[in-house]
Amino acid sequence: MLAGRAFAAPARQCLRRVNGTSRWAPALAQAQSRSIVTAEKDKVARFKGTKGNDGKFTVTLIEGDGIGPEIAQSVKDIYSAANVPIKWEPVDVTPRLKDGKTVIPDEAIESVTNNYVALKGPLATPVGKGHVSLNLTLRRTFNLFANVRPCRSIAGYKTPYDNVDTVLIRENTEGEYSGIEHVVVDGVVQSIKLITRSASERVLRYAFQYARDIGRNKVRAVHKATIMKMSDGLFLSTARDVSKDFPDIEFDAELLDNTCLKMVTDPLPYNDKVLVMPNLYGDILSDMCAGLIGGLGLTPSGNIGDECSIFEAVHGSAPDIAGKQLANPTALLLSSMMMLRHMGLNDHANNIESAIFKVLAEGKVGILTDPDTNMTC
Ligand SMILES: NC(=O)c1ccc[n+]([C@@H]2O[C@H](COP(=O)([O-])OP(=O)(O)OC[C@H]3O[C@@H](n4cnc5c(N)ncnc54)[C@H](O)[C@@H]3O)[C@@H](O)[C@H]2O)c1
Repeated sequence: MLAGRAFAAPARQCLRRVNGTSRWAPALAQAQSRSIVTAEKDKVARFKGTKGNDGKFTVTLIEGDGIGPEIAQSVKDIYSAANVPIKWEPVDVTPRLKDGKTVIPDEAIESVTNNYVALKGPLATPVGKGHVSLNLTLRRTFNLFANVRPCRSIAGYKTPYDNVDTVLIRENTEGEYSGIEHVVVDGVVQSIKLITRSASERVLRYAFQYARDIGRNKVRAVHKATIMKMSDGLFLSTARDVSKDFPDIEFDAELLDNTCLKMVTDPLPYNDKVLVMPNLYGDILSDMCAGLIGGLGLTPSGNIGDECSIFEAVHGSAPDIAGKQLANPTALLLSSMMMLRHMGLNDHANNIESAIFKVLAEGKVGILTDPDTNMTC
């Protein structure tokens, strides 16, 4: 009889024996009362690459498909003109099917593993060939757990908002994108949102560290724990735990719908914070932030892993304009600025970035908006 059960809500929790006793209790309640012991407290992703004898760092270059090679060439030209101490190692990541799974060629994996850092152009996802998204495969292969998406207003490109300067960090490996879906019965499907303490802690710890590194003293977790009490609840309680290790950073939390409303009303109060959130919320909110400053054609991104990191523009391979010399390299170039800063080459990043903003502010090189897609180019 239900009335005789030892616990009432929430239903469907699995029971686990309480350590050292004969008592059973909901697994989540036990997990939440545990302190964080899983990760080394100071472990955050750092660039570990070394300079070669010629004084240059080797960086893997995935030029990508469509306009990828053209925009990658612009980056290479600008880097050699600016004497950036980088040697590019181009690799092909055309996927192979091995035992029914999409895999990346071993040479590409070796290159990224050896160099610790890669710059990536857009990759076209083959349709109907049995491949999963190559971008997803790369994230999984290199365990790229944090997606960092800064959006800063660009002088010379007017939008309804001025002086936007948001920084969003998205958990990149689990949540709604875990790919656990099945048909329960015909007409009923179930998709499982997986949230783990270890993946949450890893991305949260990175967010606090990143805030410190860029001189922001506020971190805000964005969530929906009012509805998803267990999954987002775990993300939120982990955030509170991690925040105790960063007493110099102010921590608070906000409901996702509230964040969206406030951001499109007035994004400026977000300029002093780093926002951190689970996967799906980050995917959507980061594109919304890109919209505030003019679109995906102007926004950089970095995928950070324990060991390796891959920096990329978030737009696609634009097959409609490939080979026509119409592609705008700004997003890839700005992504490479994030890469330089990740590698500690800040002076080179500052030099090139100020040149980019100066050129755009002069307004001689137009930024156009495709009326069909709203993509700035
Ligand atoms: N990160 C990635 O690798 C990534 C992201 C999105 C899409 N894709 C892939 O890209 C392919 C095409 O996707 P899509 O057409 O939906 O999106 P898309 O971003 O390639 O193109 C959308 C529109 O924006 C324009 N555009 C995009 N980047 C531009 C640039 N740098 N300069 C000027 N114009 C630019 C295109 O010409 C097109 O009109 C698909 O195979 C998709 O899977 C890859």
